Amino acid sequence: MQIWFNPAAGLEAAIKSVSALEEDFRSDVRIADPRFGDFQANGILPYAKARKANPRALAVETLAKVQESGTLGGIQSEIAGPGFINFTLSAEYLFNWLVNFDSSEKLSAGMAKEGAGTVVVDFSSPNTAKEMHVGHIRSTVIGEAIARLLAQKGMKVIRDNHIGDWGTQFGMLIWAVKNEGYDLDHPGADAVQELQDLYGRGYAHYKSSDEAAALIREELVKLQDADAENMRIWTRITEISKQSFDRIYGRLGIDFDLTLGESFYRDRVERIYKELSECGLAVESDGALVVFHPEHKRFATQPFIVRKADGASNYASTDLATILYRVEELGATEIIYVVDSRQSDHFEQLFLTVEKWFAAKGYALPKLKHVSFGTVLGENGKPFKTKEGGTVKLRELLDEAVERSYAMVSEKSPDLDEAERRSIAEVVGLGSVRYADLSQNRSSDYVFSWDKMLSLEGNTAPYLLYAVARIHSIFRKANLKPGQNEAGASVFESPEELVLARKLLAFGPSMDGVFSDLRPHLLCNYLYELSGAFSSFYSANRVMVDEETVRARRLMLCSRTLAVLETGLHILGLKTLSRM
Ligand code: ARG
Repeated sequence: MQIWFNPAAGLEAAIKSVSALEEDFRSDVRIADPRFGDFQANGILPYAKARKANPRALAVETLAKVQESGTLGGIQSEIAGPGFINFTLSAEYLFNWLVNFDSSEKLSAGMAKEGAGTVVVDFSSPNTAKEMHVGHIRSTVIGEAIARLLAQKGMKVIRDNHIGDWGTQFGMLIWAVKNEGYDLDHPGADAVQELQDLYGRGYAHYKSSDEAAALIREELVKLQDADAENMRIWTRITEISKQSFDRIYGRLGIDFDLTLGESFYRDRVERIYKELSECGLAVESDGALVVFHPEHKRFATQPFIVRKADGASNYASTDLATILYRVEELGATEIIYVVDSRQSDHFEQLFLTVEKWFAAKGYALPKLKHVSFGTVLGENGKPFKTKEGGTVKLRELLDEAVERSYAMVSEKSPDLDEAERRSIAEVVGLGSVRYADLSQNRSSDYVFSWDKMLSLEGNTAPYLLYAVARIHSIFRKANLKPGQNEAGASVFESPEELVLARKLLAFGPSMDGVFSDLRPHLLCNYLYELSGAFSSFYSANRVMVDEETVRARRLMLCSRTLAVLETGLHILGLKTLSRM
């Protein structure tokens, strides 16, 4: 009996392994899953057409050889139409799959691929001396989900928080700190807000006159020259900012492997200037060092500035140095940037430059991918703001989510004691904010709506968390643990059992879709549909029936649904509850 984690991939592999078939034909065959659990071999028609062969005869020949190879255990097959092969999973196949994949560990092992490489996920990456706002939620939440996804795939994942802790803004900040005698060792309770305000006043001063601007530039130059006092101020600003970021990450259960930030690369940019100039990529233009890409319609004339006219490094040069470091020191074979879509040009120029530069130098080129995302909108369709029109601070947003969840939990389960309701509310509230973001196609803007994200109906965290808690309660009431009393189970029979089993098995193909373009919302959709299939099953099929073999297989469906839901939600970065 053949049990494949993803039958679509398994079938393709089976066909490709039949050496009696022509090699270029084997590479043409693709397996599609038009309906859940059923698969179709495509690619036969175009292959036959190109060679003026009879597609149906080719399909018959292929199927005979695949059957001979003995890889199709439990999968029925038939020739259809002009030359497709349709594969149908039998109830036995479904049953055996579920017997086999009986835990989160085994589901995860099914997804892992050997030698998957080392990936750096660059995400969250806020700027210091600024509050994290609602815009940062997307990078943070999507980035963490992607890091978890890639770990499932068997990659070594390095989470890198590339904070913006270097640049011209520090001239203004340092000037304002000095001008006001601001005591960085004893900041107020809302320290980051105070820094943000100091920056605002520094900026206003900078704009006020040429003399003011010159003074501020002087502070920046002193910082760049490692003047002791300015370095001390900068260091404190960074510490204060990191502490405030860490409170949010702690709450969301996010742990970075590295927080080097832009400043770490400030002395590593010389090599970039040198190498890019040597290989003729970078040229001087009005005192600045820039890269053009003649083959590109915009970047032929729109420069990628790697060193500013005043000699200072910038976002581009530190990003170039960062790639080199990640390849040489961290062994990255892939780098993923989870950054909003407004920075698409920057990344396109960065990647083009690196491709040419690495090729010229003979360095191993990592895969580079900008995982972009849209804007968070308010219910009025405009960028999400507070009632007063200010930016929404992330920490206040998380507090509000938990408060609202607390009210909801208290209303639904007034019998639970206060402490338990509080801890449930923390999981539901944070989960709701994360899930609302993840369940949207990341490329689109999405509308932030408390009512929708906290609803117990629809594709929401409360709905899914509730589905998980309900399955736990089935086991609690039966006095069993998930996975217990499954021995002697009979093969599925009722239509709802079969629909649910097929849906469970669709986890593999769904995950492949999620991996292929790093779109967590596809996993959300799948989990939502799975919960729906479970509800239909549970309302039509009594689990604790007298007949032992039937009870055992239904208990098995409950525990597998639980394992898949929990595995999926944990990959998305949500905590789950056994009671709600
Ligand atoms: N700090 C930047 C911002 O807030 C994002 C940095 C993204 N990462 C990178 N390597 N460029 O816009």
